[in-house]
Amino acid sequence: MLIVNPNATQESYPKALQNIMSIRKANESRAWLADWSRLNSGGTPLYSLPDMAAELGVADILVKDESERSVLGSFKALGAPIALVRLILRQFPEQRYEARGLLAGEYRDALADFTVISATDGNHGRALAAAAQSVGCRCVIVLHANVSIEREEAIATYGAEIVRISGNYDESVEEAAALAVKNDWLVVSDTSYDGYEEIPRDVMQGYGTISAEIVEVLSQRITHVFLQGGVGGMAAGIASYLWELYGAERPTFVVVEPVQADCLYQSAIAGQAAKATGSVDSVMAGLACGETSPLAWKFLQPCVDFFMTIEDEQAVSAMRRIAVGSASDIPVVSGESGVAGLAGLIGLDNDPQLAEQVGLNSGSRILVINTEGATAPGVYRALVGESAQSVLARQLVWLQGR
Ligand SMILES: Cc1ncc(COP(=O)(O)O)c(C=O)c1O
Repeated sequence: MLIVNPNATQESYPKALQNIMSIRKANESRAWLADWSRLNSGGTPLYSLPDMAAELGVADILVKDESERSVLGSFKALGAPIALVRLILRQFPEQRYEARGLLAGEYRDALADFTVISATDGNHGRALAAAAQSVGCRCVIVLHANVSIEREEAIATYGAEIVRISGNYDESVEEAAALAVKNDWLVVSDTSYDGYEEIPRDVMQGYGTISAEIVEVLSQRITHVFLQGGVGGMAAGIASYLWELYGAERPTFVVVEPVQADCLYQSAIAGQAAKATGSVDSVMAGLACGETSPLAWKFLQPCVDFFMTIEDEQAVSAMRRIAVGSASDIPVVSGESGVAGLAGLIGLDNDPQLAEQVGLNSGSRILVINTEGATAPGVYRALVGESAQSVLARQLVWLQGR
């Protein structure tokens, strides 16, 4: 399903939004993260898929491959560490901590009793746990019933204490907030709620690194960006940067969600941050969020042109398609949530009327972000029918053949 957002404008990036998130702040975050040992150096690749573009009848499809961002396996490695660093700088101004020194663990003795907590459906919690371990503070992660054991173990590897609840993602967010109040811990959440905006803003701002790297290597302007949405933070972080940079000439933004977790789609209908209408459970675990982040919505409402939903099968089919590759298209490991933007594009392309509505044609240059690799390797293998290692081995052969 697809809807036009009646509130999208073609104006330049508003000052009021620039005061919240800006290219300047995104660049500062990027510089702080540059030496963090958990990130791969040199940024992530931007691949062109010419064969798929020809098949879909567009000029180019560019894939920013965040599966290669870090050992953590997803783009979330850019958000939590920055939010944690900025939080500690605000909490202890008199200590004059240095941002890079925090991530290098230089102040671990002083911070050993400082505790942060968050709910997660996997990737944010893994990134926060890893950042806390680097900084040397304590971390508690609250998991809802549907987070796989595989993801739980990956988080625990980084020394976080795990709290498992029987409810869904939104209930885990509430549980984290309650535990924080009870124990005097600080919540480092990637979603905002009433009276809680600073930290999710810092998380979103961290994602600006992705946009910064993309525009540095682009040889031609992109016309469309397909962004998958959970609570909306990723889409807001990427879109706000590109909107500020290109102003009225910004690309068309399309936000893609699982049909069962359509909180952003519903927000577009309501004209304000809203809740999902479906079961919220989806194979796209990272996107299985029932409530829009109100802060993210402030950015998405005025600049996302279309909101659309996809079925789980569309994501699985796109995972297989991008994993296969071709003579000219590199095989890519794209996880269930990582592939959703591409799955949305393929879905539109199968419906000529919708494709025309979104302005997709032979001149379109489309950007998608592969936000995760095989962050749950067992799930990946079961869905794709091939292990991530095997796809990566074919990727290597493909690269060597260039
Ligand atoms: C792999 C992946 N992609 C996209 C998203 C969506 O990000 P957001 O919740 O900020 O919209 C998530 C969120 O967890 C994710 O894990």
